[in-house]
Amino acid sequence: MSKKVFVKTFGCQMNVYDSDKITDTLKNIGYEKSEDLDSANCFVLNTCHIRDKAKEKVYHEIGRVREAFLNKKKPLVIVVGCVAQAENSEMLNREPYIDLVIGPQSYHKLNETILKFEKNKQKNEITDFDTLEKFNYLSKIQNKNSKVSSFLTIQEGCDKFCHFCVVPYTRGPEYSRPFNQIIDEANRMVQNGSKEIILLGQNVNAYRYKEVSKEFRLSDLIMSLEKINGIERIRYTTSHPRDMTKDLLDCYKNSKKLMPLVHLPIQSGSDKILKLMNRKHKVKEYISTFNYLKKINEKIEFSSDFIIGYPGEEIEDFENTIKLIDTIKFINSFSFIFSPRPGTTASKLKPIDEKISKVRLKIIQEKLFGYQKLKNKSFENKYIDVLVENEIKEQKKLFGRNIYMNSVIFEGSKSLIGKVVQVKVVKTNQNTLIGEFSNKYKFKAA
Ligand code: SAM
Ligand code: SF4
Ligand code: F3S
Repeated sequence: MSKKVFVKTFGCQMNVYDSDKITDTLKNIGYEKSEDLDSANCFVLNTCHIRDKAKEKVYHEIGRVREAFLNKKKPLVIVVGCVAQAENSEMLNREPYIDLVIGPQSYHKLNETILKFEKNKQKNEITDFDTLEKFNYLSKIQNKNSKVSSFLTIQEGCDKFCHFCVVPYTRGPEYSRPFNQIIDEANRMVQNGSKEIILLGQNVNAYRYKEVSKEFRLSDLIMSLEKINGIERIRYTTSHPRDMTKDLLDCYKNSKKLMPLVHLPIQSGSDKILKLMNRKHKVKEYISTFNYLKKINEKIEFSSDFIIGYPGEEIEDFENTIKLIDTIKFINSFSFIFSPRPGTTASKLKPIDEKISKVRLKIIQEKLFGYQKLKNKSFENKYIDVLVENEIKEQKKLFGRNIYMNSVIFEGSKSLIGKVVQVKVVKTNQNTLIGEFSNKYKFKAA
């Protein structure tokens, strides 16, 4: 019987990138990618630990797999990602259905660990921080995923230790991949049909790679990708406000392919809360980054992340967050109630009343969604550039994104996939722009 692997992914874009790499890696030991769990004999669960109930979600998921395979041969069950790193051997003790637990910096050991397990059925847990080896190994694995828009991890881990965050513990210390390794990978993605590259890192703008006397930064990567024929769009995420250096900001002057949406999480509009969070920057500096970019290009828009109800958040702090939202008018954002994470500094602080947090979250989200809807509405009856990513089979429609990452749905021929086309927006809602393909305008061949 052929070997098949089904990978389920929770969490951030980096997990999506990792899951693709895992599928590519497993091909080398005979596992083909399966689109459904039922036909798989290996189940990989890629996990996220960022907010509460992360652990429970994992065990719940494993329970569902056990049920699905009740009358069938048990699949090989592997837990990877940030919960794997945080919980390590605990997972094997608590849930005997799990066979292997492998942390994010040990994916280069996946194949040998699986092969060993196939022979001796011995459960194993690998959670070393071996980032250099991992990327050396994974960069040699051929990318077999052909996607119009591709994630590309350039930096991993974090040394910033914001008091609320588990990432420095689950992803380990900051590591920047060699410059040429990244450019080679981008070229391979383009050969496989990618038109958009989204550079990834937990602190993507902290990217620094030294070679002899030259230090490469994110700005160098952007300007090098700019020169690759076939790349139409460049994005990067997630950035930290402290690392928005001038060379990076000036890419918005010098690059034609860098998209005008800046995702820059601030978490709170109160300096007092930013200090308590250990963010090490002030609201004023954030606004001045915004103003600098707006001067370069009026079309540039911001999106952000907010944590509501952080320990110590008083009504004035909350009002300052509202004020900041009114100043920047973010066009898209994520907002969450603070969730105490094990091992972090903030988990020891006195939490604020949950009811208050819930009310504040509702107010913030209404405000954020208001600006989001307003921006979307401003596209109505206008022609926008859309990079067509795929077909929504059930609706027989095409799916793509505009320059601000908004989802756009319209009718058109499948031959448009991979091209930047012009679409007239006819209707909008909070999350989607509905459009019509405009053949009045000549589309740019990709
Ligand atoms: N490195 C990015 C930065 O510094 O902004 C953030 C990366 S984190 C994976 C994504 C988002 O999750 C954060 O921006 C924050 O809003 C949210 N987050 C992280 N820890 C959280 C916690 N303990 N409770 C609630 N939200 C949290
Ligand atoms: Fe977490 Fe981002 Fe802070 Fe790092 S910079 S600790 S990833 S929130
Ligand atoms: Fe989650 Fe780990 Fe990403 S905790 S957000 S999967 S870095």
